[in-house]
Amino acid sequence: MRVILFTGKGGVGKTSIAAASAHRLARSGLKTVIMSTDPAHSLGDSLDVELGPNLTQVGANLWAHEVSALHEMERHWKRLHDYAASVFATQGLDGVVAEELANPPGMDEVASLMWIKHYAERADHDVIVVDCAPTGETLQLLSFPDAAKWWLDKIYPWERKAMRMARPLLQPMLDVPLPTDDVYASLKDLLLDLEGMKKVLTDSSVTSVRIVLNLEKMVIKEAKRAFTYLSLFGYVTDAVIVNRLLPDGLQDDLFRNWHAIHRKYALEVEKAFAPLPIFNVPLFDQEVIGERMLLRMADAIYGERDPADRFYEGTTQRVEKCGQEYVLALRLPFAERGDVDLARHDGELFITVGNYRREIALPRVLASRTTLGAVIEEGELKVRFGKP
Ligand SMILES: Nc1ncnc2c1ncn2[C@@H]1O[C@H](COP(=O)(O)OP(=O)(O)OP(=O)(O)O)[C@@H](O)[C@H]1O
Ligand SMILES: [Mg+2]
Repeated sequence: MRVILFTGKGGVGKTSIAAASAHRLARSGLKTVIMSTDPAHSLGDSLDVELGPNLTQVGANLWAHEVSALHEMERHWKRLHDYAASVFATQGLDGVVAEELANPPGMDEVASLMWIKHYAERADHDVIVVDCAPTGETLQLLSFPDAAKWWLDKIYPWERKAMRMARPLLQPMLDVPLPTDDVYASLKDLLLDLEGMKKVLTDSSVTSVRIVLNLEKMVIKEAKRAFTYLSLFGYVTDAVIVNRLLPDGLQDDLFRNWHAIHRKYALEVEKAFAPLPIFNVPLFDQEVIGERMLLRMADAIYGERDPADRFYEGTTQRVEKCGQEYVLALRLPFAERGDVDLARHDGELFITVGNYRREIALPRVLASRTTLGAVIEEGELKVRFGKP
């Protein structure tokens, strides 16, 4: 089974490219489900079909789903949410504010992503295509299980037992409601669900992320950040899709200018994402809606290639803690020799080794630290970071 996620900044063409890929996969005979986690729901518009909150067959081998219900997670989540809201309410917060605070940003998105786990477990389909927009925050929420696992294994059984005994004594003296047993049970279920989902998403033999972008400054900047965080949390990005390239041969001044701008940013994209493969998609002469246009788009993206392939395996960058220092390790596409030149600007690291140039959006943990130097070891460039 394969899970392919399409992510990127607003409006870059995620939904169209996810739908195009899904049509092409279905056409090649793979049972494909495409789901959108975007509450604005434009998947139905893109496929040019009516979609409800349930899985709907929209073609041969193709099913679609605009996720809205919070699925089984809602059960666990609801209890926790109610408990958090009741705690906030005892702190004198207005009911509406308490409700809002009890709903951390990104949680709805995570709840929608939980459907991936559901489909993966049911294994009724060969490919799950996900049109999503996980921002940094969502991805951070997905890394939460790592921390929670320790708590679940070590502290949870004791704390729950202690709370069961102490609650009758403590509660009358406190004005904050203590968590009841079913709050604990819900928390445990929720964490296990999240952990299961993370397992699917970080299994590189199953899941690939594809970053969609346009050749614009802000879009590229956000794409770089997303790429850094994806790598940091162990998600494998296997391709970058550059959408809305201007066709060659447009000759008036306006387009000559735009061509020059695009050339400049295309180079920047190469430097930022190498050695990932980069797929280019032209700006079409009309909106990309309905099967015919979506298949045309899929041809432009993949050509003869199979969208179900893994276009890149392994991660190109990782961060490790070594004593007091951190090391950012980058896979070098080819062994380069020469002095390593490092420069920093505005949260980004610029690396030059011979002909090789990389620009990396630093994760927060590194952005506040000084760079101490870099070495090339076993096909990797290792950049050391010191104290903040
Ligand atoms: N290569 C292209 N050529 C022409 N039109 C395109 C192209 N790619 C996307 N579009 C059109 O641009 C619009 C936005 O695309 P789409 O909805 O896929 O973006 P998105 O990234 O999913 O946006 P959002 O972040 O709002 O969900 C759509 O009307 C789509 O038909
Ligand atoms: Mg969209």
